[in-house]
Amino acid sequence: MSTPTDWTNATIVARRVVNARCLVIHVRPDSGQVQPFLPGQFVQLGLPRLDVPPTPEGRVRLVKRSYSLASAPHETEAYELCLALVETGQLTPRLWPLQVGDRLWCDDAPKGHFTLERLPADAPLVCCATGTGIAPFVAMLRAARHAGVSRRFVMIHGVREPSDLAYDDELRAAGCTYIPLCTRAGADWHGLHGRVQVALTRWSEINPELSDLPLDPQHAHVLLCGNPAMIDEVRDLLALRGYTLDTAKAPGTLHFERYW
Ligand SMILES: Cc1cc2nc3c(=O)[nH]c(=O)nc-3n(C[C@H](O)[C@H](O)[C@H](O)COP(=O)(O)OP(=O)(O)OC[C@H]3O[C@@H](n4cnc5c(N)ncnc54)[C@H](O)[C@@H]3O)c2cc1C
Ligand SMILES: NC(=O)c1ccc[n+]([C@@H]2O[C@H](COP(=O)([O-])OP(=O)(O)OC[C@H]3O[C@@H](n4cnc5c(N)ncnc54)[C@H](OP(=O)(O)O)[C@@H]3O)[C@@H](O)[C@H]2O)c1
Repeated sequence: MSTPTDWTNATIVARRVVNARCLVIHVRPDSGQVQPFLPGQFVQLGLPRLDVPPTPEGRVRLVKRSYSLASAPHETEAYELCLALVETGQLTPRLWPLQVGDRLWCDDAPKGHFTLERLPADAPLVCCATGTGIAPFVAMLRAARHAGVSRRFVMIHGVREPSDLAYDDELRAAGCTYIPLCTRAGADWHGLHGRVQVALTRWSEINPELSDLPLDPQHAHVLLCGNPAMIDEVRDLLALRGYTLDTAKAPGTLHFERYW
């Protein structure tokens, strides 16, 4: 599939360097406004492929990758995206040098099924992310708070180092139960060490705020996002507590989005 010569349709309008391998960018479509979407959805970004020349008609092929929106639907000026640098990757090393004002390709409209539409409106949410998998949960929380919804959110964020906690300040102030964990932190990290499973298995033992919220399907839905190995392991762990996958055919209490 190819795209016309004028392949760009969006501009980077803000850029926040979280650390050397994590970046938050804001992308504004040329239409001037984001399209309506649901928290949890994603867009694809694209740049021209370097390994294939344009066709004789001047059409270029793009390398496209998906990115969850961290912005909520009421933030209409631009899509906010949180990117991890995959040094050997095809696209992310080329997104990294882009600055405010630089151009790229972005999907016309967000898409995806990792949304809250099928969940009971008042169900507490246990949101469990690795790395940049925190993005859709930031969108869900922002949207709920903007709408005045007091729904309970437990945000469990597992990263390598404290500097990877891309939304640390916002989540500490957001009125949710925020549980950051680091797997490769030094002694100066005073939070939890280990993977997200630590928070799920030790639950209210590590956070007394959770003592009135049993981790079972009758009390909370669980959403998982990020590293697929985490999703597989946590799915098995929560199956022992009675959680079942939510599918199109059978509603369940466990929902996930794999990043690869
Ligand atoms: C629905 C969906 C939403 C996504 N949302 C995001 C997002 O919000 N932020 C984001 O950074 N990525 C996200 N991804 C992953 C993203 O689409 C790309 O796979 C990633 O940016 C790597 O692209 P690349 O071309 O540089 O590497 P590729 O050449 O495609 O290499 C892929 C490899 O990179 C590693 N990898 C991919 N994504 C990540 C990641 N997020 N963190 C650590 N290692 C990774 C894996 O080992 C994977 O096999 C999402 C993927 C899907 C399917
Ligand atoms: N060049 C560098 O120095 C450098 C350094 C870091 C990352 N990177 C690259 O940067 C990119 C992004 O890395 P990232 O740290 O954001 O993503 P990541 O590799 O998915 O790691 C994010 C967090 O998920 C944890 N995790 C991994 N497998 C898990 C599992 N099965 N269950 C639960 N948790 C699990 C990791 O713990 P563990 O620490 O135990 O794996 C880490 O705490 C990757 O491509 C990585 O290779 C490069």
